[in-house]
Amino acid sequence: MSASVPIVRTVADLRAQVGAWHGAGLTVGLIPTMGALHAGHLSLVAAALARYDRAVATLFVNPKQFNDPADYAKYPRTEESDAAKLASADAHLLYCPYPEEMYPEGYATNVSVSGVSAGLCGGARPGHFDGVATVCSKLFLQSGADGAFFGEKDYQQLKVVQRFVADLNIPIEIHPCATVRDADGLALSSRNQHLSAGQRAIAPAMHRAMTAAASAIGGGQDRALALEAAKSAILAAGFDRIDYLEARREADLSPDFASGETARIFAAAFLGDTRLIDNIPIG
Ligand code: PAJ
Repeated sequence: MSASVPIVRTVADLRAQVGAWHGAGLTVGLIPTMGALHAGHLSLVAAALARYDRAVATLFVNPKQFNDPADYAKYPRTEESDAAKLASADAHLLYCPYPEEMYPEGYATNVSVSGVSAGLCGGARPGHFDGVATVCSKLFLQSGADGAFFGEKDYQQLKVVQRFVADLNIPIEIHPCATVRDADGLALSSRNQHLSAGQRAIAPAMHRAMTAAASAIGGGQDRALALEAAKSAILAAGFDRIDYLEARREADLSPDFASGETARIFAAAFLGDTRLIDNIPIG
């Protein structure tokens, strides 16, 4: 365990360090984050360390991916404790760019992915995935890392990233990582800290209802009926509103797929002002 993790804040310093590692024949894995780190993020660091010689985490609360300014303003900013967690996780470097480094005066370019970004969170949060694709493409090109690690917790985001990396021929390998959950099934998220004790007790009902629907559909039950039952169970448990609860094919996130094709259930629902998302495989 290292005592601290070195922090760089400019593209030049990031490139110099990654370049030095590459020059020494070492491979580099990147873990993009917005901070407020938890065990889900740290599992990506562990996966990067298992696959590459050096693990570089990034921390940037990306204004371009927030469609609600209030959501951006209240996003937790905890650089010091994040750096301490990364040191304990044996990360080699933290890239924490200044906002002007990412979006300098005159910045005018947007990376926009169609298809996989339609519907689900793309429907509920207009512009969100353009912001994600733009910042991730910048992080990949700025760092020159060999691989990057993404959680399946944000499955649509993972598909968007895989799509633009393939489409733009960006030379980086994308590694999907399993969702880390609390013992009661709730997917770890920096948003969970906004939940009251009462809301936290209700929260795992979403994953429970999704699991029941996934096994019902996997067992041959009508898809629409199983999804309706899951929605009712989520609202009955005390969620305030459901944004979406849908089954989609894994490969391209199409809602039109035959039973037997590899698919997932995706959900987003509100407890008060807090929006929780999750997804699980069917079957
Ligand atoms: P953030 O929400 O901080 O998540 C950073 C990474 O951690 C993402 O790949 C996300 O899927 C992963 N992650 C979050 N919770 C997880 C969990 N419970 N189990 C496994 N992985 C988990 O996602 C973003 O930031 C941003 O959109 C970003 C990609 C950094 C671009 O700004």
